[in-house]
Amino acid sequence: MAKAIPNVTSTSFTIFFFSLLIATKAQEFSRNLSQKKLGLKKEKLSHLHFYFHDIVSGKNATAIRVAEAPMTNKSPTFFGAVVMMDDPLTIKPELSSKQVGRAQGIYASASLNELGFLMVLNFAFTEGKYNGSNLSILGRNTVLSTVRELPVVGGSGLFRFARGYAHAETHSVNFTSGDAVVEYNVYVFHY
Ligand SMILES: *[C@@H]1O[C@H](CO)[C@@H](O)[C@H](O)[C@H]1NC(C)=O
Ligand SMILES: *[C@@H]1O[C@H](CO)[C@@H](O)[C@H](O)[C@H]1NC(C)=O
Ligand SMILES: *[C@@H]1O[C@H](CO)[C@@H](O)[C@H](O)[C@H]1NC(C)=O
Ligand SMILES: *[C@@H]1O[C@H](CO)[C@@H](O)[C@H](O)[C@H]1NC(C)=O
Ligand SMILES: *[C@@H]1O[C@H](CO)[C@@H](O)[C@H](O)[C@H]1NC(C)=O
Repeated sequence: MAKAIPNVTSTSFTIFFFSLLIATKAQEFSRNLSQKKLGLKKEKLSHLHFYFHDIVSGKNATAIRVAEAPMTNKSPTFFGAVVMMDDPLTIKPELSSKQVGRAQGIYASASLNELGFLMVLNFAFTEGKYNGSNLSILGRNTVLSTVRELPVVGGSGLFRFARGYAHAETHSVNFTSGDAVVEYNVYVFHY
């Protein structure tokens, strides 16, 4: 009996001591980490080239207006229109060419005086080494300009720590249906 007491005490003390240690660790809010430990080697610069199909017409539309303001249809710039898209990305201008991913997100008319969209979207790639990796874009798209530049604000998978820009250039527009094909050149730093 006399022997059991110190044993219990020392066990409790050991548990107490370790929980203190764990608590101290858990309380750490941030730490310095080497790039190597995170598996980051050398930063690379990649160029991606593809065509974006904004299909707004027909049964198989991939871009659909989901919201608008009372003034949107009277506005020369469709101000307030919000469009949700899941647009296919292909390697050639033809929709039937190989699909490399989808552009998923929102474009919204954000300019009263000019056709200018706020673009918030992810490129979700499904082909080659970038299959499963994504790039996030947040930018301004004045669709009537020859070349629009949209910042790449981040990415996932092989595009972790991504930064860069995308150049968008209209390839063709069907003025009857409103469908458009846009050529994209994306320049991105990543590991
Ligand atoms: C992290 O690195 C900075 C700059 O090198 C240094 O000032 C800081 O003390 C380091 N923090 C820790 C927790 O090691
Ligand atoms: C829509 O997609 C379906 C399935 O892929 C296809 O059979 C149909 O022809 C398409 N319709 C139009 C109008 O493109
Ligand atoms: C992309 O990855 C998915 C999931 O891992 C797989 O099912 C698909 O076959 C891959 N596609 C290509 C073209 O490699
Ligand atoms: C990229 O987006 C796809 C959806 O298209 C998702 O399934 C996948 O988990 C994302 N990849 C990473 C690495 O987060
Ligand atoms: C443009 O769209 C209209 C209406 O959907 C369609 O009938 C026509 O074939 C399209 N023109 C081209 C060149 O694709």
